[in-house]
Amino acid sequence: MKILMASSEVAPFAKVGGLADMVSGLSKSLKKSGHDVRIIMPYYKDIHLDKKKLKTVLTPMGVHMGGGAEEWCAVHVFFLEGDPSVQVYFIEHHYYFNRSGIYFDRWGEFGDNAKRFAFFCLAVCQFCRDLPFKPDVIHCHDWPTSLIPAYLKLWYPFDPILGRCASVLTIHNIGYPGTFPKDFWTYLGLPAHSFCEAQFESWNQISFLKGGIYYADKLTTVSPFHAMEVRTPEGGKGLAPYLNRRGSDLFGILNGADYDIWNPETDPFLPANYSEKDLTGKASCKKELQKRFGLEINPDRPIFGVIARLTFQKGLDLLMQIVHSLFSEMLLQIIVLGDGESYLVSGIHYFTRIYPGRFGSYIGYNEELSHLIEAGSDFFLMPSLYEPCGLNQFYSLRYGTLPVVRATGGLVDTVGNYDEATGGGTGFIFHEPSPRALYYTIGWAVSTWYDRPKHIHKMISRAMKKRFDWERSSKEYTLLYEAAVRRK
Ligand code: ADP
Ligand code: GLC
Repeated sequence: MKILMASSEVAPFAKVGGLADMVSGLSKSLKKSGHDVRIIMPYYKDIHLDKKKLKTVLTPMGVHMGGGAEEWCAVHVFFLEGDPSVQVYFIEHHYYFNRSGIYFDRWGEFGDNAKRFAFFCLAVCQFCRDLPFKPDVIHCHDWPTSLIPAYLKLWYPFDPILGRCASVLTIHNIGYPGTFPKDFWTYLGLPAHSFCEAQFESWNQISFLKGGIYYADKLTTVSPFHAMEVRTPEGGKGLAPYLNRRGSDLFGILNGADYDIWNPETDPFLPANYSEKDLTGKASCKKELQKRFGLEINPDRPIFGVIARLTFQKGLDLLMQIVHSLFSEMLLQIIVLGDGESYLVSGIHYFTRIYPGRFGSYIGYNEELSHLIEAGSDFFLMPSLYEPCGLNQFYSLRYGTLPVVRATGGLVDTVGNYDEATGGGTGFIFHEPSPRALYYTIGWAVSTWYDRPKHIHKMISRAMKKRFDWERSSKEYTLLYEAAVRRK
C-alpha cells in the first residue's frame, strides 16, 4: 500500500512527546514489511537534520486557503534512517514555521496555531496533487493534522487522487483537542454547515479533533484499554458522545518500542551495558546515576526515576504532595527529569534543595540522561492521571526497571501487577488518583525491595524478557488501512 503519514512531530527531527517516536517507529516498521510509506511534516526552524543533505522537490507550491487567501511554500525531502530508510517530505513556509518551537515558545502558545496547522493540512492535500506520490491512505495524528480527513471529503470528493484516498486518524492525546476561536473559520475554508455541534463546533469554538473524529474513515487510540476509556464521560474529555457515534470505526492499537534504540545490551549512552543474564552493568549505571545527581552512592537504596513532560496529565502533583512523608518514613532516592509547568518545576527545585543526596533533578530535555535514568533506576514512576499509551514503561521493562504506575490507558495493557504470594508481575499498580494511593504503592515497592529481594529479581528478569515491538502494531494498522480503503 501507499501510505502517507502526516504529523506535526517526527523523531528525531522534531519532538515534544511520544507522538514523534510513534510516527517514526510505525513508519519504519511498515516500510520494512513492504509498504511504500512516506512521511510529511512541517519544516521548523529548529529541525534536527543535516540541512546540506536536504533536497528540494518542489518550489513554489501554491496552497489556496479559505477567504481567498493564498499561501506559498516549498517541499523538501530527506531520509529517516532505518533499515530500509523512509522518505520524509518537509513543507517549508517561512512565516508559519521558521520560528523557535513547534506549538509554543517561552512566551506561551502561538496565537496562530489554527492557521499554521490548517495550512499544513491543505498543503498535504496539495502535495498529493502536485507530486507523483499518490497515497491510498493518509494517516493523520492528533489535532494538528485532523483537518485532512475533512478536506478530503469536503474539498476533494471528486478529485481523481484525493477522492479515492482513505484517512485514518490516530488520537494520541485527547486532552489536546486543538480548540480555537471561531474567527479562524473563514481561513480554514470549510463550509458553514460543518461548523455545527456534530462536527467542528465545541462551545462556539472550532475543535480540530472533533471535526477529524467526524470525517476520518477510521479512528484509533494508542492502546486497547484507552479505546474503551475515551468512550466514557471521564476519559473522553467531552468527546465521548462523538467517539461513541463512530464506535464501530474506533480501534485501540498498542504502540511499540524501538528496541534498536532502547536496548541495554547495546545502548551507547550507558557507562556499561547489560543483559538479563548479567546485571553487573546495571549496577554500574546505578552508581553513575547516583554520582551524576549528587545522591548518596549506595547500591542498597532503591532509586525511583521519573522522565516526563511536567504537565498535569502525568500525575506529578500526587508525587509532590508525598515527598516529605516518603523521605521521613522510607529509605529511597528519587530522580526527576523533565520540563513543563512552572509550579511543578518550582516544587522539584525545592525538593532538590532540601533533600540533597536523596532527591535529584534535571529540568530540561536530555536524551542521554533519559537513557541513564532508565538503566540506573530500580523503579520507574508513572502516576499518570491518564496515559493513552506511554512509552517509558516499555523502556523501563526492557531495562529491568520496574514500573510503578496508575491503572490507566496503555499502562493497564503493558504492566502486570506484583503478586506478593508468588512473586509474579512486572510492576506495581494503583488505581485511585490520590497522593495516598501513590504513597502506599511506593511503600509496597520499597518494602518488596528490602524484604523480598528474590521477588524483585524474578520480576526484573520477567520484565526484561517482555517485548512490545512495532511489527505487531504495524500488522494491525495494515488491516485497518485495508478496511479504510475498502470503504472508499
Ligand atoms: P507523552 O507523549 O505524553 O509525553 P510518552 O511516554 O508517550 O508520553 O513519551 C514521552 C517520550 O519523551 C519518551 O520517549 C520520554 O523518554 C521522552 N521525554 C519526555 N521528557 C523528556 C526529557 N525531559 N528528556 C528526555 N526525554 C524526555
Ligand atoms: C501521547 C500520549 C502518550 C502516548 C504518545 C504516543 O502524547 O500522552 O501516552 O504514548 O502520545 O502515542
